[in-house]
Amino acid sequence: MGHQTLVDAGKPGKPANTKKLFIKTYGCQMNVYDSERMADVLAPVGYSCVDSPDGADLVVLNTCHIREKAAEKVYSELGRMRKLKEKNGGTMKVIVAGCVAQAEGEEIMRRAPVVDLVLGPQSYHKLPEMIAKVSREFGERLETDFDTQEKFDLMPKARTVDGPAAFLTIQEGCDKFCTFCVVPYTRGAEFSRPVDQIVSEARALVSQGVREITLLGQNVNAYRGAAPKLDSEKHWGLGQLIRHLSKIGGLDRLRYTTSHPRDMDDELIAVHADEPTLMPYLHLPLQAGSDRILKAMNRGHTYAAFKDLVAKIRKAKPELALSSDFIVGFPGESELDFKRTLEAVEEIGFASSFSFKYSARPGTPGAALPGQVDEAVKSERLARLQDLLTRQQKAFNQSLVGKTLSVLVEGTGRGENELFGRAPYLQGTHFTGSADLIGQIVRVEITDAGQNSLRGVLANG
Ligand code: SAH
Ligand code: SF4
Ligand code: F3S
Repeated sequence: MGHQTLVDAGKPGKPANTKKLFIKTYGCQMNVYDSERMADVLAPVGYSCVDSPDGADLVVLNTCHIREKAAEKVYSELGRMRKLKEKNGGTMKVIVAGCVAQAEGEEIMRRAPVVDLVLGPQSYHKLPEMIAKVSREFGERLETDFDTQEKFDLMPKARTVDGPAAFLTIQEGCDKFCTFCVVPYTRGAEFSRPVDQIVSEARALVSQGVREITLLGQNVNAYRGAAPKLDSEKHWGLGQLIRHLSKIGGLDRLRYTTSHPRDMDDELIAVHADEPTLMPYLHLPLQAGSDRILKAMNRGHTYAAFKDLVAKIRKAKPELALSSDFIVGFPGESELDFKRTLEAVEEIGFASSFSFKYSARPGTPGAALPGQVDEAVKSERLARLQDLLTRQQKAFNQSLVGKTLSVLVEGTGRGENELFGRAPYLQGTHFTGSADLIGQIVRVEITDAGQNSLRGVLANG
């Protein structure tokens, strides 16, 4: 198998005039990854990141289109940017990137003249070139082509990392077309990066002190990337990729997100059982408990199939905890359908979950369906669902009290000598210890549990 050495991780040259770059990120982890990469793309041409848009030379809003609320945030933020730009003499450049850029580029340009450039998620490698064009006041101000391969091939190899845990996008786009979802339109078709490219990025991260990598994709377990050159197979799935990455010395923890129930194959389940580097935590969106609604959503599986899958995964890895996503008030959802979601949650039990009111998105089939549910009904259902999910989350965290967990120390906490890290199940974990433990994996005996976080003491030995 083709192990790659780290010849390609050169540091970008240090430019003379440092310009200030402010990036604001909305939406999912893939946007977080993309924002980091945009900073990497812009570093060689003289930009370094600042914490505030006030006084910045360049502001990038990396946006999310998943629900109406998320998309509308962009326009109110652009109002603020217009005021800042006026206050600071009009030299600040404003770029809208991400999924709103992809979905409503033209509309952004029309509604918000403050915007200099609109850039879809597949065009970030072109940032320096596009900024140069805009500065000379000619050329396209809208770039929303889809060439995911080019994006990854042309992005700089060097990455600036912040802390011992990092994201690494291995797959992008979606071919599933759930009827509520904009992602297939904003991120394009499924594309998987070649294994070698991922391995060299992972090695580069590890050489900078990263100990935990979360592999990202809109459908990360649909990953099918080109295998290393001399391998007998042409493509590898996610399971094979994880086995391979687990061999990188110093890379102690792996996670992946977001997976689709239909793509959880036996190999991937086996990897959960065999690879201690793979954390015992899995985000597996169910969305709804009613088969009628699952069908209308085009999820491609029944509730019974989900239940069987969970049983199989739990058999392979009994200590694995699950999290999920739910939508309430999809068109046509009756009280009875909704009760099926509550029953499903009761039956399966989740360590943590995200739940949302259905938001009709322009251009998706769901938006045109009859039986759109009243906002008040959605709110009421969401409250009931969240009440149940919160109870499960608290109970799960409480069940960890008295246990000793491995914690990757990410930084200092608020109190004196307080450290902060992540447990295997992702909860933020607070304990007392010396700052030289940052970047290490320590054993922490859990003494208290809240809804979202844990507290404990360093265990001896
Ligand atoms: N690829 C992932 C989901 C990505 S979007 C999957 O297949 O599960 C993250 C979550 O946002 C989804 O799981 C869904 O619960 C929610 N979501 C997506 N579109 C939505 C919409 N139109 N309204 C409300 N919630 C939505
Ligand atoms: Fe959206 Fe469905 Fe694709 Fe997930 S699988 S990104 S919910 S279309
Ligand atoms: Fe949002 Fe785009 Fe991610 S719509 S959830 S930022 S893929």
